[in-house]
Amino acid sequence: MSTRSNSFADLACESLSRRGFLAATAALPSLSLMASEAQAAPAGFKAVAENRLDTVVVPEGYVWQPLISWGEPLFEGMAPLQPEKRGAPFAFTRVEQENRFGTHNDMLALFPANWAYPWPEGTVTRAIMCVNHEAVSPFMAAPGSDGQPIDTSTEALEALYACMGVSVFDVAHDPASGAWSVVKGPAIGVGRNRRVTPFSEVVFDGSAANHPWIAKAGAIVNEVESARSGAPKVSGAVKAGTFQNCAGGFTPWGTYLTAEENFNSQFFTSNKTSPALVEAQADAAFAADQSIYRYDNFWRIGGPAQFDLSRNPHGPSLYGWIVEIDPYDPDWRPHKHTALGRKANECATTVLSKTNKAVVYTGDDSNNQFVYKFVSRDRFDPTNRIANRSLLTHGTLYAARLEADGTGRWIALTAAAANRAPRGPGDTPFANDGDVMVRCREAALRLGATKMDRPEDVESPTDGSFRGTGTVFVMCTGNLSDSGRAGNVANPRRKTIAGDGLERNHQGHIVRIQEARQDPAALTFTWDIFAVAGDPSGEVAPVTNGEGEVVNVSSWHLGKPTTTGDRFAMPDNITFDNRKFCWISTDGTPRTFPCNDGVYVMPMVGKGPRPVKRFLTVPVGAECCGPLLAWDQKTFFCGVQHVGAESTTGQDYRGEPNGPYSSFPTGGWPRDAVIYVRRQDGGTVGT
Ligand code: FEO
Ligand code: CA
Repeated sequence: MSTRSNSFADLACESLSRRGFLAATAALPSLSLMASEAQAAPAGFKAVAENRLDTVVVPEGYVWQPLISWGEPLFEGMAPLQPEKRGAPFAFTRVEQENRFGTHNDMLALFPANWAYPWPEGTVTRAIMCVNHEAVSPFMAAPGSDGQPIDTSTEALEALYACMGVSVFDVAHDPASGAWSVVKGPAIGVGRNRRVTPFSEVVFDGSAANHPWIAKAGAIVNEVESARSGAPKVSGAVKAGTFQNCAGGFTPWGTYLTAEENFNSQFFTSNKTSPALVEAQADAAFAADQSIYRYDNFWRIGGPAQFDLSRNPHGPSLYGWIVEIDPYDPDWRPHKHTALGRKANECATTVLSKTNKAVVYTGDDSNNQFVYKFVSRDRFDPTNRIANRSLLTHGTLYAARLEADGTGRWIALTAAAANRAPRGPGDTPFANDGDVMVRCREAALRLGATKMDRPEDVESPTDGSFRGTGTVFVMCTGNLSDSGRAGNVANPRRKTIAGDGLERNHQGHIVRIQEARQDPAALTFTWDIFAVAGDPSGEVAPVTNGEGEVVNVSSWHLGKPTTTGDRFAMPDNITFDNRKFCWISTDGTPRTFPCNDGVYVMPMVGKGPRPVKRFLTVPVGAECCGPLLAWDQKTFFCGVQHVGAESTTGQDYRGEPNGPYSSFPTGGWPRDAVIYVRRQDGGTVGT
């Protein structure tokens, strides 16, 4: 999630292409690339110590406050929160949740109260905030009465789905006090505040919009929902909404992009031999898709019929997309842009090419999956905001191939190319380019894209015009799969403690891509390892991880430390300030180090090793996500997600009597929240 600031004209990692070093040397990628730069300098705050406290911890001289937490109404006139309740702090029904802030808040984005291009900088008093709601925990959201772990009533199961999606709401900021607050809509349905849920109307566009799987599944969704909530009001819309919204992005034309990640986990199978499911499974392409995403393999307790594979076997084809929402226009139905490919989408970072095409980077957050970018066919028009909403409808989707010599190329994913590529046993041809978008992972694999260690955020620092220098950071969270044990040149492996094998990637790393000619639309690039997460104390850095294994979590690469200072693990999201520092949030640090997840700040420029400082930690059981800086750089926002879901000893909360394992933020039942951090003196954060 990039902050757009206008101070990036002389951007940092200029280095790679400008020096043209690789063309000359064909060297292995390494930190020596930055050798002619000054030593990287640390951020200017006193780092937070490792801790397992059940609160947010910020540096001395800083304060944090909650902005909004699960269940808060987005409209005036709704019943106030009942913070003392177990589970939902309101009457837990679908209709209530459809007008209240959801759970598992992830990506955060701020939009100017009134759109202008370039985007404004400096202090604002009003803005629009968009927040993703990635997931829901039935144990946390709907605990049963009489000691039962879950409320399995039809009403509760339906409400659980409405916890996910997106919240859009106005915010106000008082520069004098530094406070931010939610501005409620005057009444439900009035104003631009809204929830987008798995029941909202959406429109599919792009080459897969009429794919037979999507057509079949969309018809079933509309049949079920017409009986429940009425037919779609917009012709061609499907009441499939969106869920599992992880990270995302925002566009120069002022729209929000939300990425549907682990959509496969939201389906259940009431009858494994239902005629509809058996018929679907006779199609080899469907069987392959089911195997790739294992969407019949997740624990769920049931729910609305459209999420039952026995009734709607092609339901999963409606998800895994990048969805565009217009914060300024509640009447415009969110658009699922099939041209950006279906996968476990983590993010959607938009930058403008040298010729004003929209370039959108996405990562597929699973072991051994790929990094992608979309390049629009048409050009951004800064004078016609509305017309730009169709920019993501037509274009070309590419997957990244990273070569051992530090070069790389973007491989176009088309049916013609994929059908020419060698096929493995059971692989079926692609019917057309739309079929490639639906079965994106298969196409990227056949065409030779590079398998990565869970690529999450893929972000490129730009200015307020959404222009940068073609530098892109890929956050690889880690890879614990056996099939990915060997890694590859872009996903290096440490030696085991005994030195007799390769360690799995327990703590993640960051790959940096430099697009050719500093143009995001380029088809070639150079790349290097920007940093390896972990412990910088030695080339062998043993730690006993959460599974009780002693593993090597060194942050060294090619015989040198890539970091100094604070150790961290599992980088997930990244944003950039206007002083060329990266702000990185983590998801999973406690599996490696005895510390809650948090935010780490390191310089984007200068030769390594990079000094790392821990800026913040979140409470027990939570991941930290959605790092975001206000345009004036005086407020830092982030998400506290699934707080209390895991104990300090690594136990998942599944309704145990001694859980949940946090009481954040009110001292009672834990509830996910968006928080913000300021300096007590009102100054620039991080300095
Ligand atoms: Fe939702 Fe990839 O984290
Ligand atoms: Ca994430």
